[in-house]
Amino acid sequence: MAKSARVKKRFAGVRIHPTAMIEPGVEIGAGSSIWDHVHIRSNAVLGRECIVGEKTYIAYDVRIGDFVKLNAFVYIPTGVTIEDKVMISAGCLFVNDKYPRAYDYSSKGLAGSAPNEDTLATVVKEGATVGAGAVILGGLEIGRFALVGAGSVVTKSVPAHALVVGNPARQIGWVCVCGRRLLRERGGFHCRPCEKKFSLKGRKIFGQTFRP
Ligand SMILES: CC(C)(COP(=O)(O)OP(=O)(O)OC[C@H]1O[C@@H](n2cnc3c(N)ncnc32)[C@H](O)[C@@H]1OP(=O)(O)O)[C@@H](O)C(=O)NCCC(=O)NCCS
Ligand SMILES: [Zn+2]
Repeated sequence: MAKSARVKKRFAGVRIHPTAMIEPGVEIGAGSSIWDHVHIRSNAVLGRECIVGEKTYIAYDVRIGDFVKLNAFVYIPTGVTIEDKVMISAGCLFVNDKYPRAYDYSSKGLAGSAPNEDTLATVVKEGATVGAGAVILGGLEIGRFALVGAGSVVTKSVPAHALVVGNPARQIGWVCVCGRRLLRERGGFHCRPCEKKFSLKGRKIFGQTFRP
């Protein structure tokens, strides 16, 4: 069977641009679209109804949920997990190695790139958005429905529904499930466009119908 026919059979219901490189062992759910020059390394798993924009790189064993949007030029190394309904905007970089070096002076050779005990795990929880060009350092959690502003450098975990911006990223507010900023009202917060109400307990925000 020709290579393109094999790919079609393996990924039924998935749109894959002919220039994309999908390595062995990759799983992609039905209804997903993979655009040009995307590279997905072995054993990565992508859910259904996702979009992966052009020139995005997804490393070995990365787990990505359903209804996820990865824009163009996104870099996702091993150790990163992206839950359902997450948006990662154009040009975002995740980091999984805190003290990287090119050369290993004990073995006198190029330092290995394979994951090891120093590889940091990061999770982006359901419904969160990472704005364009953000850098997310390793070992962090981006909470449910959090919003990371464009160009931020995230050095600490972000609470659910928090809005963070800057370098280093600092919290400047809270956002709704819909992504809009929450407005303070007596006894809590509300979202003007969709009228959801929230209350703050300590540093955690709670919605009417769900808990973070
Ligand atoms: C963070 C964000 C949601 C803030 O929007 P907002 O709540 O309407 O805030 P405003 O534009 O009123 O800005 C509020 C303040 O934050 C600052 N600010 C806004 N976005 C910022 C960012 N990304 N980084 C640093 N500071 C930012 C503004 O300069 C302003 O500062 P000031 O109070 O000193 O004047 C928005 O700017 C953003 O970055 N969205 C992500 C966009 C994106 O990446 N889209 C990707 C798909 S195209
Ligand atoms: Zn809302």
